[in-house]
Amino acid sequence: MAAQTGKLVVVGAGAVGSSAAYAALIRASAREVVLYDIDASKVEAEVLDLAHGTQFTGAASITGGTDVALTAGADVVVITAGAKQKPGQTRLELAGTNARILEGLLPRLLEQSPDAVYVLVTNPCDVLTVIAQRITALPAGRVFASGTVLDTSRLRWLLGEHVGVSRSSVHAYIVGEHGDTEFPLWTCATIGGVPLQDWVDADGSRAFTPESLEALAHEVRTAAYRVIEGKGATNYAIGLSTARIVEAVLGREDAVLPVSTVLSGQYGIDGVALSLPSVVGAGGVRRVLEVPMDDGELARLARSADALRASVQSLGY
Ligand code: 2OP
Repeated sequence: MAAQTGKLVVVGAGAVGSSAAYAALIRASAREVVLYDIDASKVEAEVLDLAHGTQFTGAASITGGTDVALTAGADVVVITAGAKQKPGQTRLELAGTNARILEGLLPRLLEQSPDAVYVLVTNPCDVLTVIAQRITALPAGRVFASGTVLDTSRLRWLLGEHVGVSRSSVHAYIVGEHGDTEFPLWTCATIGGVPLQDWVDADGSRAFTPESLEALAHEVRTAAYRVIEGKGATNYAIGLSTARIVEAVLGREDAVLPVSTVLSGQYGIDGVALSLPSVVGAGGVRRVLEVPMDDGELARLARSADALRASVQSLGY
């Protein structure tokens, strides 16, 4: 928290973009926050509403509008613009529409902010990251997606609730696609340093069985569908996840976060973006970690990569 330095541009003033800007202001993730959208009345209203609350946030400023020149000189550009999932729709079904939006948008943003780190939040974020990297020709570490940072937060919350321990003491990751083929890395999951499989409740009984773990994974995988069914979109948790990523970059934290980067041979995967625990700091993703996985996890990672590769190829990339 509290990078309080640098210029953050959030592209898209919809529910996700506005929530990302709001979270960034409250968490003091940047010194300057700019909201950019092509819808004048929407972006102006969101900026006003956010500005009206800045007496109660840190020193960060919030401005914005429809002029792309406002985005110039950004340190981090977060992209949330695009069509969103309708109830029952998968993230991958948005690929074509949102790829076309990126093709129009990215060259203009890059012209204004040639040195920025670009963070894709628009779905399907893994597929769009590959496309964004091809369009911009930036190094993979400078154009990546929020990926499973949000799903990982969902998992840690559920695990913490399950055993009655603060989620800050839970270390576990969701990896792979930010979508239907994502999965938890149970092999390296710990609570307070205790491997999940060994965690016992106060009465001495084991807290987790293979069935209860699968139920938790299913709950995480389907979480967004439930929220979208009830309120039409997810916004708060993805806004907070985005702010967290931004402050890792601007604060030069070298924090380990499961963001989605175009891989170059890790686990034998090439040219596909998916989430793995990665070191995020100055300049973006500095390293993708190759954490130990068992055979089942490796197979699920390959399945996630295959699904994403098929989607990218279907778009002609
Ligand atoms: C989420 O997982 C819909 O990708 C969005 O909340």
